[in-house]
Amino acid sequence: MTTPNVKKPGLFAIRDVSSLLTETRESGHELKRSVGALHLTAMGVGAIIGTGIFVVIGEGAGIAGPAVILSFVLAAVACVFSALSYAELASSIPVSGSAYTYAYATLGEIVAWIIGWDLILEYGVSVAAVAVGWGGNFNVFLDAAFGVQLPDAISQPPEEGGVFNLPAVLVVLAITVLLVRGVRESARANLVMVGIKLLALLFFIVIAMTSFSTKNFTPFFSEGTGSVTTAAAIIFFAYIGFDAVSTGSEEAIKPQRDLPLAIIGSLIICTIFYVLTAVGAIGIASPDQLKESEAPLATALNDGAGISWAAWVLAFGALVAITSVILVIMYGQTRIFFAMCRDGLMPEKLARVHPRFGTPALLTIILGSLIAVLAALVPLNEIVQLVNIGTLFAFVLVNIGVIVLRRTRPDMPRPYRVPWSPLLPVLGIAFAIYLMADLPLGTWIRFVVWLALGILIYVLYGYRNSRVRRAGVAQAGPDALRKADAPRRTDEDPAP
Ligand code: ALA
Repeated sequence: MTTPNVKKPGLFAIRDVSSLLTETRESGHELKRSVGALHLTAMGVGAIIGTGIFVVIGEGAGIAGPAVILSFVLAAVACVFSALSYAELASSIPVSGSAYTYAYATLGEIVAWIIGWDLILEYGVSVAAVAVGWGGNFNVFLDAAFGVQLPDAISQPPEEGGVFNLPAVLVVLAITVLLVRGVRESARANLVMVGIKLLALLFFIVIAMTSFSTKNFTPFFSEGTGSVTTAAAIIFFAYIGFDAVSTGSEEAIKPQRDLPLAIIGSLIICTIFYVLTAVGAIGIASPDQLKESEAPLATALNDGAGISWAAWVLAFGALVAITSVILVIMYGQTRIFFAMCRDGLMPEKLARVHPRFGTPALLTIILGSLIAVLAALVPLNEIVQLVNIGTLFAFVLVNIGVIVLRRTRPDMPRPYRVPWSPLLPVLGIAFAIYLMADLPLGTWIRFVVWLALGILIYVLYGYRNSRVRRAGVAQAGPDALRKADAPRRTDEDPAP
């Protein structure tokens, strides 16, 4: 029996791009195409601006001093090459699953599984952690605006003296409901939140510029030039999220045009805001002041510019910003899981799309509940580095994917192409490894343990149940390709 879409059998089985596209149209597995360029870009900004700029900037300033500004630039440069690679793959393979799916189409099943498992770390675990950060900011906001605080018992995890983190649980559950209701509703809510968080940062930048002084800028490399990279490896967290745009490929109305635009556009917008915010922060507060605060931007306005009422404005901005990070990253998580289930590497029954909402409702509820439990009980520390290493690893594989696919499928339509390939993808790999190398040994060990656990699950479940080993899909051939090329259902063109 011939198996046209399985180029290599065994662990390195490769999914043919055309069969991947065909499956997006299967009854019961078809997501609704309803998101345009503006909402996709807002999704990117929504996922990017959050804990990183509102909280982690303080840690970065502590590591690199005023040169943390360069750490923001370095982290952005490290991201841009990978963003270009994401844009090429997302526009050529507009299928849910992001890096997981790209790896399946280029590097083989086992690599795809590893990257999918790795993305669970990036998306799932970080949502829980970011939700915990949300809880912390909620308390800062309540305190700054109304002078009240929730008792530790219902606002802290057990390791930090509480019982469970109620605000973190509530925000995750509320967002789960929104995601079940529909991607367009979620995208609209996200757009509003993105507007608010950009205004909050703009507010910070404008006030900081009016009280600006150059005294904190010298000596610029107060912690040595090497500290710029160390801080960049942490600050990198602030940029995570542009890749989440690519998880929305299957719901984009015009994926070929809009995905590259949204991925690269959101990264550029955030870089501009971040560098201005970092310059403004150092312009009004010393790195030591920033380092010691849990809400460094609010502290900078309070201590540096003497504007105490700004604290609650910033805390509110941070709250909204982190909400949209949770929304988009959780959305990305459900879509990656969706793709993994549809491929049989996870239980396929979970990949059912709700007939009315057009979303993977069951999967979203299960993931939302698991993340809520995690958010109730886990503390925030260390998670940033773990999430960073997982994401940087995904970047390495995506860049390799571009290089491999250019060789194995030179004629595949590529609406967007990375210029000067393979030079830029190679630079993407080099920058990601450069930042990974600066993360502590403990982070590496945790990461390797996580991957080992993933491989065990693959051996016990995914390998046996994988869809590429089943005759039905393996025989999808030219017919499937023709069907996949036919126009798709969109919101403007409702199904009969
Ligand atoms: N980039 C996201 C944040 O900073 C993960 O919260």
